Amino acid sequence: MFTSLQQKWGVSTRQFWVLFLVFALTGTTTAYFTRYLTAWLGMDAQTFWLWKVLLRIGMLVFGYQFLLLGYGALLGQWAFFWKYERKLLQKLGILQKDVKSEKSKVKTEPQTPNAKRQTLSIAIFASGAGSNAEKIIQYLKDHPVIRVALIVCNKPEAGVLHIAAAAGIPTLLIEKERFFRGDSYLSELAAHEIRFIVLAGFLWKIPDALIKAYPDRIINIHPALLPKYGGKGMYGMRVHESVIAAKEKESGITIHYVNEHFDEGKPIFQTTCIIEPDDTPEKLAQKIHQLEHTYFPETVVSVLKKTFPEMI
Ligand code: GAR
Repeated sequence: MFTSLQQKWGVSTRQFWVLFLVFALTGTTTAYFTRYLTAWLGMDAQTFWLWKVLLRIGMLVFGYQFLLLGYGALLGQWAFFWKYERKLLQKLGILQKDVKSEKSKVKTEPQTPNAKRQTLSIAIFASGAGSNAEKIIQYLKDHPVIRVALIVCNKPEAGVLHIAAAAGIPTLLIEKERFFRGDSYLSELAAHEIRFIVLAGFLWKIPDALIKAYPDRIINIHPALLPKYGGKGMYGMRVHESVIAAKEKESGITIHYVNEHFDEGKPIFQTTCIIEPDDTPEKLAQKIHQLEHTYFPETVVSVLKKTFPEMI
């Protein structure tokens, strides 16, 4: 039950338990306040039942929600709870509907010259620390058209989930079985109106169904100069260890389109760095991350401009 709730919320295990704690603290404090208020107002067994019910409803509708936000903020979960409260306030007609979500309703319609200012929603797939995802999110923070609308992740413990939570970006935690045998979460991607996918440290092979649904609309970053040091099992530190073991004089990064073969899609961008004789895999990893952080965000934007010239 907990796992499916965690997946529904799209949060890491740690965040899930923090959220749980927020709900528990809020529930206990609301009950305590309600009892205190009942006594303070002089309500007892003789009080007309309707007044007591109204007090409880009032505490649930207002007190509970305020406390939820307060505890949420105290435990670093403001973004999660505000999103939840905002939806509630919008439903009650107290807050106006999001301009962004209104805009996104029309963005899958046929593109006309007026499409220039529509929102272009992209998803980042990442399963690690998420430093690349973070750089892309920062780079696109104030972009007038491109919006990182979803972070897709297959590891409940991944650091990228904290980055998404801090940025208030929805997350989707995926399961291997459904990703490879089912519909590859196409319906969830469609629900977020995702038009383009960026793989930033995502290690599972992309299923054919997803590649067919997003032809030339999925790109990946690889921490080496492909075609060398690519393919199944070649990711993260394993790549750097192999490069150092082979005594290469240089390494680099490759950004490429994703096709049905691991790391074999059409290259988009490559750049190199020198390997010093005393460089370790860790030192090389740092150099590579620096290159990735410098070039990946701008390459994402230039590919998007090429792919959606009528929008950007
Ligand atoms: C990045 O170096 C990326 O190139 C690599 O994973 C790292 C993720 O770092 N991707 C692969 O190895 C894919 N084969 P991050 O989580 O800090 O962005």
